Amino acid sequence: MAGVRTDASVVNVRTNAHMLALARRALHHQQAGTTDQAAAVLELPVAMYTDPTRYRHEIQRVFRELPMGVALSLELPGPGSYRALNIMDVPVLIVRGGDGVVRAFLNVCRHRGAQVCADGSGTARVFSCPYHAWVYDQKGQLTGRYGADSFGEIDVDRYGLVPLACAEAHGVIWAMLTPHRTFDINRWLGGMGEQLDTLKLDTWHLYTQRDIPGPGWKVTMDGYLESYHHNLVHPKTVGQYTVGNLLVLDTWGPHQRLTFGRKSLPELLEQPESAWEPDVHIRLIHSCFPNLSLSGILGDHCLVSQIFPGPTPETTITRQTVLVARQPETDAEKAATEAFSALTLKAVEEEDYGIGFGIQKAVHAGANEHFLIGRNEPAIQNYHRWVAYFARANAGTEW
Ligand code: FES
Ligand SMILES: [Fe+2]
Repeated sequence: MAGVRTDASVVNVRTNAHMLALARRALHHQQAGTTDQAAAVLELPVAMYTDPTRYRHEIQRVFRELPMGVALSLELPGPGSYRALNIMDVPVLIVRGGDGVVRAFLNVCRHRGAQVCADGSGTARVFSCPYHAWVYDQKGQLTGRYGADSFGEIDVDRYGLVPLACAEAHGVIWAMLTPHRTFDINRWLGGMGEQLDTLKLDTWHLYTQRDIPGPGWKVTMDGYLESYHHNLVHPKTVGQYTVGNLLVLDTWGPHQRLTFGRKSLPELLEQPESAWEPDVHIRLIHSCFPNLSLSGILGDHCLVSQIFPGPTPETTITRQTVLVARQPETDAEKAATEAFSALTLKAVEEEDYGIGFGIQKAVHAGANEHFLIGRNEPAIQNYHRWVAYFARANAGTEW
């Protein structure tokens, strides 16, 4: 790929102009009963969802060898903050050093491989392995060994924690799970970075975070990339607010911004554009390839979803994070935040993944040789084309 292409119309993210333009496009579709479309219906062989050899290859190329949003900056608020977590069977330790720089390491002791820091988060000056107390500092350097004299001489500079390429940008911590590689986050995100800045992710607060078991990676991901199902699957949750089957799509390389219309959209017809408050009538989802979805659903609340493929093509874990513009204080604020949190959990866990597990169960039954991705599902089409692109030999090595 020759650099990251910008397909979106030119927008100024520092003004409201781009929101007005998006509202205009959404309103046009709502009035005409139309949506952004791909050029043709796409046939995807079902084997692309099920074949274990293909799956292992794609997971390696798409998830382990590309930058991925692994945490939010706000999860590591100050110097010494750390987060230890398992990402697709890779134990990762993310640390904000005393210098404010975030670094990522394999959370694996260089002595005999124990997990150095227990999964969780907190603050720490050093990390001491629970097995034989080898000690690593916030930069991953090996700074102490219990019984060093009896153990024998080693070159301690060679035995720091193994670093992973890591960058902090736009309120997100990006890392690559394969060691001994590098990436340039600006190159990877292209124009999407500027779009992420509009979310001001640094200013939000963590309300809650949970891991939700889901169906296979592609079955799960497809559901995040269209509004075609909203009225049918979510009539009592998020579908209440969303105009079904209306999508305004902009792309920056593999990254996509989906704009959905809210049911209140026609109210704009009664107002001059100068009085429009677009945020009230459209909903933006920023989808960073391959698995991070940032969705501001209701003004003061934001939903972040990270979809991590499981060990087989049949399962995923979705890390769902609810952010609040400010921590709720009054009873009414607490109730509103809890209602949002419960709504998004129900919509995803029961409704989306309920359908998804059904697909997953029947996928081997032989009913379909291919799935059809409609012209009204262009973001799904794009996603699968980019997966195929990165899975090809020598693709994606330039990041
Ligand atoms: S395995 Fe960590 S100190 Fe021995
Ligand atoms: Fe859904």
